[in-house]
Amino acid sequence: MTTEKKIFKKIAQSKKARAGVITTAHGEIETPIFMPVGTRASVKTMWQEELEEMNAQIILGNTYHLYLRPGHELIEKVGAGLHGFMKWDRAILTDSGGYQVFSLSSMNKVTEEGVTFQSHLDGSRHLISPEKSMEIQRALGSDIVMNFDECPALPATKDRLRESMELTLRWAKRCRDYQLKDHQNLFGIIQGGLHHDLRTECMERLKEMNFEGFALGGLSVGEKNEEMVSFLDNFVHTMPEDKPRYLMGVGKPLDILNGIRAGIDMFDCVLPTRNARNGQFLTKGGPLNIKKERFKEDLLPPDPECNCKVCRKYSRAYIRHLFTVGEYLAGNMITYHNLYFYLQMTRDAREAIKADKFDEFYSSFYNSYTSNMW
Ligand code: GUN
Ligand code: ZN
Repeated sequence: MTTEKKIFKKIAQSKKARAGVITTAHGEIETPIFMPVGTRASVKTMWQEELEEMNAQIILGNTYHLYLRPGHELIEKVGAGLHGFMKWDRAILTDSGGYQVFSLSSMNKVTEEGVTFQSHLDGSRHLISPEKSMEIQRALGSDIVMNFDECPALPATKDRLRESMELTLRWAKRCRDYQLKDHQNLFGIIQGGLHHDLRTECMERLKEMNFEGFALGGLSVGEKNEEMVSFLDNFVHTMPEDKPRYLMGVGKPLDILNGIRAGIDMFDCVLPTRNARNGQFLTKGGPLNIKKERFKEDLLPPDPECNCKVCRKYSRAYIRHLFTVGEYLAGNMITYHNLYFYLQMTRDAREAIKADKFDEFYSSFYNSYTSNMW
């Protein structure tokens, strides 16, 4: 029987929103926190130094991708894990592969044993089971390891969601029984769609397995945004007080603020990095698409209220030019700003919670972000 370690300390609360500290072997993480996504051992276009410079405290890696290429064994052999391989000595969280198998591979088949699938790269067949996912994440040496779960798309019938939740619970037990490295922490993933009763049951049964933290999976998978927000408002505050709460794969800036308001501590999303590569700056005044003709001679910085190294020096006109001709630097600059924007938003939220003024911060961010300034 594995006994849990205590990794979270709450330091302040403003209504349901919380500020805290998560302690890992690779540094402390001040929550609420946004975790940049580094699927294939790289946060796309970013140098590790740039992530350090903007004060990223934890990044994400993906079991599915790293298992297929270059292989977890190689990463363990040449880097003694992902930290050494990519030269990132702050914290790393790895997702378990289940979710990516469903979204990327083809012909996947779910059995009690695990998921068999064909690689999206060369069609080769593979099986990822709970034990295999733990073996991969153990080799990667991530600080936070995620359970291997099944994430059904919504809408789904309640019977289907219950079946899937039961399977996720049986898999959770198999993950918990796997011996990880001493520094690694395992998080349980709560499934159950938008059904409060299923989610509560899933959580109660996961609590018996003493996970170091809890995640909400299966959200932002086809339901309406209002449905997700109202689910979070009703559910998150019932999750254990003394453990980190992680909302997986969410979301847009306002989704993150809604999550923080409901009591979530950790977030990840590809939006700031992916949309950057399509020319979208996320700014205090709302999204700004640099491709637009009207920025051709605009000498303002991308976000006049931002203090990042891009906004302190470069103009919209220059970045629009780089983007239009296809220079790689454009993707790097927009990604840098967008990640800085997300990190600054969570830092500001944390300060507001510490001052017990989260509601005021929420309203002012909301009004500015929805003003459609550009
Ligand atoms: N990323 C976004 N949603 C999910 C989920 O439900 N499960 C896992 N493992 N990863 C996710
Ligand atoms: Zn900026």
